[in-house]
Amino acid sequence: MNKRSYAAVMFILAVVAWPVGCTCGNDGAGGEPPGNAPSSETVDLQTVEEGGPPIFDVMAARRSVRSFADTPLTEDELARLLWAGQGITDPVRGYKAVPSAGALYPITLYLCDASGVGRYEPETETLAVISESDLRDELETAAMGQSAVGDAPAVVVIVAKPAVTAAKYGGRAERYCTLEAGHVAQNILLAAFALGLSGVTIGAFDDDSVRSLLDLDEEYLPLYIIPLGHPE
Ligand SMILES: Cc1cc2nc3c(=O)[nH]c(=O)nc-3n(C[C@H](O)[C@H](O)[C@H](O)COP(=O)(O)O)c2cc1C
Repeated sequence: MNKRSYAAVMFILAVVAWPVGCTCGNDGAGGEPPGNAPSSETVDLQTVEEGGPPIFDVMAARRSVRSFADTPLTEDELARLLWAGQGITDPVRGYKAVPSAGALYPITLYLCDASGVGRYEPETETLAVISESDLRDELETAAMGQSAVGDAPAVVVIVAKPAVTAAKYGGRAERYCTLEAGHVAQNILLAAFALGLSGVTIGAFDDDSVRSLLDLDEEYLPLYIIPLGHPE
């Protein structure tokens, strides 16, 4: 088997295995981290109760949700979700709501909904219209038919341009972009739950198909698809 077919087979196995992991459920406890010998000693920590700053309740409430009501999101909800992912919080220095290696911000957010595809422009808090076609069904196909993508009223796609980060950090760029996409995704999910919405981060999709739908060339790396909506 050549390298390309091997990669394809591994990808398909990962996708086929996904629902098994989701529905059978593991104990969720994680277990012993790899690389450490088992330890019999423990140090008790205080149990985290309800209450405290509201972000703790949001973190406790967050759960991946894969089916949504038809209700579209309001403009205010969409603006807040995108702001949570890439909004500028320090206009003087251009710093954003998420950490970024060297404050280089290689990530761009795309919003796909019934009205088409928009690219989030943090400086002006606007959407640049990329397409007026509803591409959610095609995105669902690109995501191995995961129905959450086609059913959600709004889908955010996180895309990185590793060259932005590579200019300063060389070979660590893809790693940094992937880490940054995690920050962005978590901010968006926590914002969603704080607004009474829900969503799921989707990593199983075909990169080339997503690039082609968003009209992006090979320089760009789609890292996450996040269907968002009101829980059903
Ligand atoms: C890197 C990554 C990729 C993921 N990809 C998918 C995916 O393709 N489809 C999906 O339904 N869930 C996906 N998830 C969500 C996980 O299945 C989910 O987080 C996990 O089952 C734990 O459940 P919770 O998010 O409700 O705590 C992904 C999560 C991560 C961190």
